[in-house]
Amino acid sequence: MNSDRPIGVFDSGIGGLTVVRSLTRRLPHENIVYYGDTARVPYGPKSPQVVREYAAEDTEVLLAHNVKMIVVACNTVSAVALDVVQKRARVPVVGVIIPGAEAAVQTSRKKRIGVVGTIGTVRSRAYENAIRQVDSSVQVFSKACPLFVPLVEEGWINHKATELIAHEYLFPLTLEKIDTLVLGCTHYPLLQNVIGSVLKGAATLVDSGEATAGAVERELDAHGLRNPSTLKPNLKFFVSDIPHSFSEVGERFLGQKLGVVKKV
Ligand code: DGL
Repeated sequence: MNSDRPIGVFDSGIGGLTVVRSLTRRLPHENIVYYGDTARVPYGPKSPQVVREYAAEDTEVLLAHNVKMIVVACNTVSAVALDVVQKRARVPVVGVIIPGAEAAVQTSRKKRIGVVGTIGTVRSRAYENAIRQVDSSVQVFSKACPLFVPLVEEGWINHKATELIAHEYLFPLTLEKIDTLVLGCTHYPLLQNVIGSVLKGAATLVDSGEATAGAVERELDAHGLRNPSTLKPNLKFFVSDIPHSFSEVGERFLGQKLGVVKKV
């Protein structure tokens, strides 16, 4: 179990780079191998059966890189297929749902929590179940926001159209008087400004990726897997397709230059 082995992170596409960004900030010396299934993205609208098949294959891609831990950055996979990854992995697995749910319960005072995510994530009720597992007296209000993913990929981060759509999606949640909103999708942290302004400060936003970075740190320590090196880490990026404007969009998610991206 040498702890300088990389942490493996996978997602349905490039959105999971927001989770890598949170990881590199919290754990600046960890080596990371990222795999984005860009050829088959989006997973959000697909059936749980298909997402489970893809999740098994994504796990194998990372295991081939001798990773010491697997982080399932994709909310949709974490919601419907975490057990598939756990069964195959032979290394610790961290998904984004439980850390996001725990952070939301800690944040909420009124015990009225909103959750936004893909259709697959919301249909699975995974956040709702995880939140109630922590505190059964919390009320959860969920809303699928499928248009957010293409809007973010288009770069329409502070766009009028995005504001209108966000208002349409989030208005029902404001009526429920939520005080906390879980951003239950890899892409949504990039819409924090728009979402925050639609909610007019009435709810605190919880970034599930950010919460997951904390969970990864705890898990590394629990297994004695933290990389003792203080050198600049190795970040490697693999994808199943290199679509147009990949680097531009990827760098927006990662918050820094991507470097070499290899197709597998
Ligand atoms: N990565 C997905 C998630 O967090 C969003 C994109 C997709 O639908 O594949 O649920």
